[in-house]
Amino acid sequence: MPYSIGLYQAACAFLSAGFAVQAVVAAMVLLAIVVALPFVASQDGTDVDSDEDEDTPPTLPGCLPWLLWDIAPFFRRRYDFLNRGFRLTRAAVWQFKLMNNTVIVLSGASARRAFFYAKGFDLTEGFKMLSGALPMVRGVTSDGLHTKRIATIHKRLAAVQRNAPLTDLIPQILDDARRMLETYEHAGSFDPFEAIYSASRFLIFQTTVRSLSSTELASSPERVARLKTLYDRLDASTTPASVLMPWLPTPALLRKLWATKEIYEMVVDAIQQRERDGEVKNDTLQMLLDSGDERLTVVGFVMGLLIAGARATGTTAAWIVLFLGGHTDWQARARAEIESLLPDTTSSSSLSDALAEIPVATWESSTPVLDAIIRETLRVAQPHTAMRRNLGPDTYIDGKRIPSGAFVLYPFSDVHLDPAIYPDPWRWDPARPHSTKDLGYVGWGVGKTTCLGTRLAKIELKLVLALFLLAFDFSVQQPLPVPNWNDMLLCRPATKCTVAYTKRTQRAL
Ligand code: HEM
Repeated sequence: MPYSIGLYQAACAFLSAGFAVQAVVAAMVLLAIVVALPFVASQDGTDVDSDEDEDTPPTLPGCLPWLLWDIAPFFRRRYDFLNRGFRLTRAAVWQFKLMNNTVIVLSGASARRAFFYAKGFDLTEGFKMLSGALPMVRGVTSDGLHTKRIATIHKRLAAVQRNAPLTDLIPQILDDARRMLETYEHAGSFDPFEAIYSASRFLIFQTTVRSLSSTELASSPERVARLKTLYDRLDASTTPASVLMPWLPTPALLRKLWATKEIYEMVVDAIQQRERDGEVKNDTLQMLLDSGDERLTVVGFVMGLLIAGARATGTTAAWIVLFLGGHTDWQARARAEIESLLPDTTSSSSLSDALAEIPVATWESSTPVLDAIIRETLRVAQPHTAMRRNLGPDTYIDGKRIPSGAFVLYPFSDVHLDPAIYPDPWRWDPARPHSTKDLGYVGWGVGKTTCLGTRLAKIELKLVLALFLLAFDFSVQQPLPVPNWNDMLLCRPATKCTVAYTKRTQRAL
């Protein structure tokens, strides 16, 4: 049972209460936070303030570690917060405190290399503490036993991306995309963040559920929609308080627990349904069950990877559609590339059937235009900040001490938006050379923490985009919106963006 019963019941009571009760509870909780914080802040943890010497990175001035007001921008406007830190400290390596935790922020080529290859730096521990948007499943993400289970999950993820399962997935992903794109009118417009990613059409979410879970879940539009709503709720309930004080029953935490519980039950239900029916299906759930993994590992695989996979892939798809809508020359090049891969003999078949005949190897090695588009989009519109915890020993980066226990951050903007590496960095230009020197491009991560879903993500993106490009001409009004790196999930610009489209073929999708 992954939840404490008390919290679970509190969540039920809170969520079914009226607005007035919720407001009173929220006010009480806020009061409790204000009263409790100074005491919490003085608990254990690394304490580098008391050891200010030249090895110690300078501290961000005017940021009180226990004042939510001061540290909230780290969660709400991270890009601005980190840039402000570099500006105020005038240092390439600096630090701030999040309550009793020391967080050290790095920049520059040598720090980047040290960060990605440091032996004691742990991604899961860093992400768990500083991000908080993962569903917590005891034994997978929330206790000391997790390492072995995570290793198994990673092994299974590699198995999903072997040639044979990927080949089987291609027609299924295309079929999902076809079904959703068939709902588009002959001409119209949409907001790519809504249509491609979020609850209204959630194309990428659908294909990710298809790729990483079970046929029963993926083929039920109601269940996919419900999952999407719940994952959105998890994102929305990731607040500074719910991340930093997960023991405090804030309204956000209760909503998060509630959403986690429902996702957990849906996944367990899908597993039980398969076990009950005894029917063997050709999908990822079957592979997981056939591998004989314990139930918690299977649940952890589906719950954790759905979120890891759908978020970044959905954001990338939305931005590619926007960029191609504003750069119709690249749209034409991408379309021509896909048309050149279509088999000659299939003009009478549907577009999705024709695309399904293209082998995995061709998608992977004969699509240089799509590859350049994906690569450049990740550079400019993937607002990732890599997070680690130093599990020890103390280490030095650029002459600055990173104490054991400290959290360490490397914002990808440091390299991807550096004008010295990428002149005019906000300009989207897939033709620009991407630096291979000094880890000058980190879109899929580096070293031992390179993205483990790259193959699947690229195939998903290419298939969905290929069908969209063959089916529609589309455009976006100039000036194109600039990615907003303060929105850590979608990079969504403040102004609304609209893609106008027209069907370009009589051929069935
Ligand atoms: C466009 C889509 C994606 C992008 C841009 C992306 C990017 C990344 C990056 C940059 C990292 C390294 C993070 C760091 O160093 O802090 C990473 C790690 C990871 N990604 Fe992805 N990812 C994508 C899709 C996926 C998908 C579809 C899956 C799973 C199906 C996935 C699973 C993972 C996992 C498990 C890790 C952690 C690796 C580890 O613990 O060592 N990703 N990803």
